[in-house]
Amino acid sequence: MFATVFVFAVENAVARIVCEGTFDSIPAITFTAALHPGWNAGNTMDAIPDETAWGNPPLVNSTFAHVKNAGFNGVRLPVTWTHHMTGETPWTVDNQWLQRVSNVVDMITSNGLSVVINAHHDSWASFDLASPNANYTRYEEQFYRLWYQVGENLACKSSMVAFEPLNEPSGNTKKHAEELNKLHAIFLQAINDAGGFNSDRVVVLGGLGDNAVNLIQWLEIPENITNPYALTFHYYSPWDFTASAWGKTIWGSDADKAALEADFEAVRGNSSSSPIIVGEFGMEVRPSEPGARWKWFDHVVRTGHKNMFAMMLWDTSIHFVAGSPNPWEDPTALDILMNASQGVPNTLADSTEDGAASEQWSSATIFHRGGERGEPVADQSLPFIWNGNTLFSIESTVANAPRLLVLDEDYVLNDPNITFKDRYLSTLFQQFGPPGIKANLTLHFSSGAALQLPAIQWDTPQAGFTDFIVTPENVKTDLPIPFEYKGLDKLATVKARLYNSTYLIDEWTQWLGPLQQGRLTYQSHWDFNASHVMVKSSVLQAVLAAHGAAVLTFEFYPRMRANSVNFTLDVERPPPPPAFLAV
Ligand SMILES: *[C@@H]1O[C@H](CO)[C@@H](O)[C@H](O)[C@H]1NC(C)=O
Ligand SMILES: *[C@@H]1O[C@H](CO)[C@@H](O)[C@H](O)[C@H]1NC(C)=O
Ligand SMILES: *[C@@H]1O[C@H](CO)[C@@H](O)[C@H](O)[C@H]1NC(C)=O
Ligand SMILES: *[C@@H]1O[C@H](CO)[C@@H](O)[C@H](O)[C@H]1NC(C)=O
Ligand SMILES: *[C@@H]1O[C@H](CO)[C@@H](O)[C@H](O)[C@H]1NC(C)=O
Ligand SMILES: *[C@@H]1O[C@H](CO)[C@@H](O)[C@H](O)[C@H]1NC(C)=O
Ligand SMILES: *[C@@H]1O[C@H](CO)[C@@H](O)[C@H](O)[C@H]1NC(C)=O
Ligand SMILES: *[C@@H]1O[C@H](CO)[C@@H](O)[C@H](O)[C@H]1NC(C)=O
Ligand SMILES: *[C@@H]1O[C@H](CO)[C@@H](O)[C@H](O)[C@H]1NC(C)=O
Ligand SMILES: *[C@@H]1O[C@H](CO)[C@@H](O)[C@H](O)[C@H]1NC(C)=O
Repeated sequence: MFATVFVFAVENAVARIVCEGTFDSIPAITFTAALHPGWNAGNTMDAIPDETAWGNPPLVNSTFAHVKNAGFNGVRLPVTWTHHMTGETPWTVDNQWLQRVSNVVDMITSNGLSVVINAHHDSWASFDLASPNANYTRYEEQFYRLWYQVGENLACKSSMVAFEPLNEPSGNTKKHAEELNKLHAIFLQAINDAGGFNSDRVVVLGGLGDNAVNLIQWLEIPENITNPYALTFHYYSPWDFTASAWGKTIWGSDADKAALEADFEAVRGNSSSSPIIVGEFGMEVRPSEPGARWKWFDHVVRTGHKNMFAMMLWDTSIHFVAGSPNPWEDPTALDILMNASQGVPNTLADSTEDGAASEQWSSATIFHRGGERGEPVADQSLPFIWNGNTLFSIESTVANAPRLLVLDEDYVLNDPNITFKDRYLSTLFQQFGPPGIKANLTLHFSSGAALQLPAIQWDTPQAGFTDFIVTPENVKTDLPIPFEYKGLDKLATVKARLYNSTYLIDEWTQWLGPLQQGRLTYQSHWDFNASHVMVKSSVLQAVLAAHGAAVLTFEFYPRMRANSVNFTLDVERPPPPPAFLAV
């Protein structure tokens, strides 16, 4: 079984790296604890074919100072090697790339952060275990050579540096898993053959797809492993919520929380005392509703902490670049994450949790309807989930001028509600007033994250046009529709109904709740920016294929019928028959 490996081992036995200095050997549990909470430098060193190919600037030392300042202790550095190594034996990795990775690793550790480096998109670019054309013999040779060279290059790095052989390995069968187990053994052999401090270095092993169930059912730790090791899996569940699919914009019911707890406890329960790293978790911030999102972040990180998992946020790097014009979109979620990662209770904004609901409310935003059909300004009671905390203060900021709200005058407390009084709200809102963000509130509590709540006067958004004829030519590109948002510049979801009352795409969603039936999926079917809503080519093609009209309903926050816009997509029809043919 290890024949190939053995040949390499003999060949390289003389070439072992010898390091100066000493290595502070640590058990994997110490490494894992030091990593928590962690951050992924995503879409940068793993971009294809090189670091800046996916639009991010190169990683610099100050990126990691920012990451450290934000409260993270560890970094996962995804690296794709395929495009930096020769395409055949002896699979030589480009020296400049090895040096670049080494430099970035030094930046990370010199900022006091631990780091896991991996082989990232190589899981499909070079080592696709599930491919019908897979040549496992070739994979084994190349994998050994890859990790031998990476192992040599990073052999003398400190114990703050760990190796993870392969990100999200493809495959879903026992056969694929057995090959992955074999690759793990080959990886261990390679880094140990390379020498240096690698024999004492922490390694991080996962299952197919870095999926929790695959980890549990199929990962077999190589028999003669001598390296300290941690296990890893990724968490993006429930996928429809984290990916903004099928109108799933609510989260936080007892059943939702129990499912998450069961997922984590199954990994913990099957892995007894192994150190465990949730190498990636996260969700789409842009289209999601903050109340639901905060609950999810809190519960994922809190449950991870309880199970002693190191939690590593997936991120696309750009948000933590020094002076980024595009900082992480949700500072409140970050604060929630940091507090939950230490087990500190957060107060959370309550929001719709019932899958049978037909509208969605949330205490994460103070909404008031203005415009022509505006409502009188009145007291608003917003429920919070207190988790044992008490309210410390509320700061209301308008145009950079903060003021502390006064208890009993501006607001009152009716457990579990904070009731904002008409007296305060009427300084921001008017019955027929113009839409916009009228104030930014910060709520401070006895412990845990401060919550940032915008006060928004909304009106139904307005589309630049509301119908469009699809043709075989124009279905090939996405359709941008100019929009005046009138409140929050966010599209929540899109419902698509065909002329005959069936759903245009994913007809099975008829079995879901009223907020999800017929809804489409973010990025596959729709997108938006500050001025336009985009209907993706896939939707136009579906209308063309159905030979009939479809009504798209664009839905905004707060999700209610009055805050949606209908748009008709139709196909070209033959001209009507000449009048003289009519009987
Ligand atoms: C990175 O910056 C830190 C200070 O934040 C400094 O101590 C360290 O020497 C720098 N590392 C590198 C590799 O330049
Ligand atoms: C599989 O890879 C090995 C090693 O690179 C090679 O010798 C063999 O010819 C390949 N097999 C096929 C079917 O391509
Ligand atoms: C693990 O055991 C295999 C034989 O089963 C051997 O070929 C290999 O060298 C061993 N690896 C290490 C790292 O000791
Ligand atoms: C092991 O994992 C399975 C799911 O794969 C789960 O049903 C079972 O409860 C877990 N065992 C323990 C002891 O947690
Ligand atoms: C809290 O507010 C909700 C929603 O406005 C309301 O239904 C509920 O009765 C309030 N509860 C208390 C104790 O005031
Ligand atoms: C509220 O905060 C947003 C984002 O930081 C800012 O653009 C807006 O001007 C603020 N609104 C008010 C009324 O201060
Ligand atoms: C928890 O949140 C508070 C308030 O937002 C913040 O000051 C603090 O730094 C957070 N705690 C941690 C451990 O980050
Ligand atoms: C939004 O997208 C539209 C259509 O692609 C484009 O014309 C416009 O410039 C974009 N606006 C912003 C603010 O990015
Ligand atoms: C509705 O129209 C679509 C597309 O033309 C068609 O595939 C489907 O069978 C129709 N369903 C019903 C119930 O009429
Ligand atoms: C959009 O059209 C559907 C019927 O296709 C209708 O039930 C709904 O009320 C309309 N929504 C708006 C906001 O006009």
